[in-house]
Amino acid sequence: FGRSMRGFETVGSTNERAAQWAAAGAPEGATVLTEYQTTGRGRHGRDWTADKGRNLLFSVVLRPTLPPDRFGLLTVAAGVAVAEAIEDFVSPHSAALKWPNDVLLEGRKACGILLESSLAPPNTDAVVVLGVGLNVNQTDFPDALADTATSLRLASGRPVPRPPLLARLLRALERRYDAVQHNGAGSVRGAFRERLAALGSSLSLRLPGTDETLSGTVQGITETGALRLRTADGVEKTVHAGEVTTRR
Ligand code: BTN
Repeated sequence: FGRSMRGFETVGSTNERAAQWAAAGAPEGATVLTEYQTTGRGRHGRDWTADKGRNLLFSVVLRPTLPPDRFGLLTVAAGVAVAEAIEDFVSPHSAALKWPNDVLLEGRKACGILLESSLAPPNTDAVVVLGVGLNVNQTDFPDALADTATSLRLASGRPVPRPPLLARLLRALERRYDAVQHNGAGSVRGAFRERLAALGSSLSLRLPGTDETLSGTVQGITETGALRLRTADGVEKTVHAGEVTTRR
């Protein structure tokens, strides 16, 4: 990843730029990087805001051969890759994952990942854009995020150089992506479970687009990357996407 790279001082959203580049024929692994986004996107239609020049904001074009019902594995693989990559820069801290792929340091969110897929003309092969927003050297967050967000610098107590971190991230993402494409869930399940912050604990999920919540203990992931939850009456349910809030 990143062998074809376009860098911008400011863009609306790197995911949007990468999708446009993909539609114009960008090769797999093509990467869009920026110092600042004016309309950064988060999951579930939320905004993603990050200070200028202190973080890593980038998107990678993927042309997966996995069937679309397994794209959940890409989400999981991306989270694992980011967790692995940042651990080298914040040791002795370790990174945890909140399903599906928020990356946490000391229980606070340091990185958000947004995968968006579309069908690329002229053929119908899927294009997936993998967007990563990693808080690197940002030390102040808006009030609404002050209690839940962190950065590598805040967690490690020292500034983190961005170029080697980006190189490490792109390598880890490519490696985990290749593995999950060729070897499926088995290639990533162990690493995911090891870092799953909520493994064995209770979770309440708000099912997206509904008022419904589902509660249970986290068991791991399925072959397609869905979350396995066991409810209080012992029934196992799988959830493909959801708003995860940890119950204390
Ligand atoms: C989340 O809600 O946790 C996902 C946030 C993803 C943010 C990144 S920043 C780079 C890329 N471009 C975007 O507009 N969003 C993603």
